Amino acid sequence: PIPTLRPGSAGLQIEDVPLAAIAERFGTPTYVYSRAALEQAFDAYRDALAGRRALVCYAVKANSNLGVLAVFAKLGAGFDIVSGGELSRVLAAGGDPGKVVFSGVGKSAGEMRQALAAGIRCFNVESEAELERLDMLAGELGTRAPIALRVNPDVDPKTHPYISTGLKNNKFGVAFDTALALYRRAAGMANVRISGIACHIGSQLLDSGPIAEAAEKVLGLVDELAAEGIHLDHIDLGGGLGIRYRDEAPPSVAAYLAPLLRLLDGRSEELCFEPGRSLIGNAGLLLTRIEYLKPGAERNFAIVDAAMNDLARPALYDAYHEAVAVAPRDVPERNYEIVGPICESGDFLAHDRPLAVAAGDLVALLSAGAYGMAMSSNYNTRPRAAEVIVDGSRMHLVRQRETVESLYALESPLP
Ligand code: LLP
Repeated sequence: PIPTLRPGSAGLQIEDVPLAAIAERFGTPTYVYSRAALEQAFDAYRDALAGRRALVCYAVKANSNLGVLAVFAKLGAGFDIVSGGELSRVLAAGGDPGKVVFSGVGKSAGEMRQALAAGIRCFNVESEAELERLDMLAGELGTRAPIALRVNPDVDPKTHPYISTGLKNNKFGVAFDTALALYRRAAGMANVRISGIACHIGSQLLDSGPIAEAAEKVLGLVDELAAEGIHLDHIDLGGGLGIRYRDEAPPSVAAYLAPLLRLLDGRSEELCFEPGRSLIGNAGLLLTRIEYLKPGAERNFAIVDAAMNDLARPALYDAYHEAVAVAPRDVPERNYEIVGPICESGDFLAHDRPLAVAAGDLVALLSAGAYGMAMSSNYNTRPRAAEVIVDGSRMHLVRQRETVESLYALESPLP
């Protein structure tokens, strides 16, 4: 699944750097990303949208490392953020605030002020109460807040229930049939400027049917608004394109966008997208070392130095990440449960995987670029992994491994 991962004389390498060299230099567990793979993924969007007014806003939540953000900023990407913290990261990485859209149901007053001061491109507003707060705060700051309503088109994305967001009874967005009335209200507000409309129906979408259905509904609403004199400048169709983890066959970016571009043909609005996973999921892996092999009557365990605190997706969603030996040995393959050192039975990274390995060997968990490090924690007082971006034959340490002291630096014992 990772386009720039290939076999070399010293085992698997990413671009021109052997994974063994990364482990040697920075230790394990370590997240490793390929700059070329990031650029390829971004180019797929850019090429598919060539000749249109369009903005690709990388969904920072998928992976918010400054090095990653800087790669996308250099490519001219915009950013989809969901917190003031993410905005700070984007600015620290050299991102353009004028290309930032701000999603999320719970924007605080402080986050709104921060984003207004930075001059972001658009607030994707998810409720009437949020709209009122934004109008008030923008007034206080003597500015006008650019807004889109995030509407909930009530389309079933046919993905994991935890990551589907566009159905009627989840917390996201403004109910479709109330959106018109809310736009009318926004149009009457002194400190709000209506800029566009947004929707996001879910993640890991494996065909473009549901998003095309959502887009059709959204366009219907855009036309109704126009008939009332409310003209939108952009249409934001969110993120969601899936990737191949195992044997999924997601459409290419071009195939995914094709039906949407057909629908939008001849329209003047700028088109925005908020992809996360499809830009970085398959540009990264988690490199880990086997501490022990523990054969058993029914199952063999490979106990590695990464755990659910590093990569939560298997424990959380029963997600599949391919596991490969970096330098397979000349021994018979055995099937292993790949588990971490954390004290929970749920601490597994992969089930029943054939590996030809010995203790001390390196294993790579693939497709871990998105929602890997970003969802990591310090459970069991485990320092978070290091992060490295490979660029040709160079490796850049873009996040140092945490130290244990830093984990409790903000705490204090009782006197
Ligand atoms: N825009 C909005 C408003 C979103 O809520 C999301 C993801 C995205 C864009 C980016 O979606 P993507 O292109 O990455 O599918 N932790 C889960 C995924 C949660 C996605 C949440 N929202 C996972 O590990 O699969």
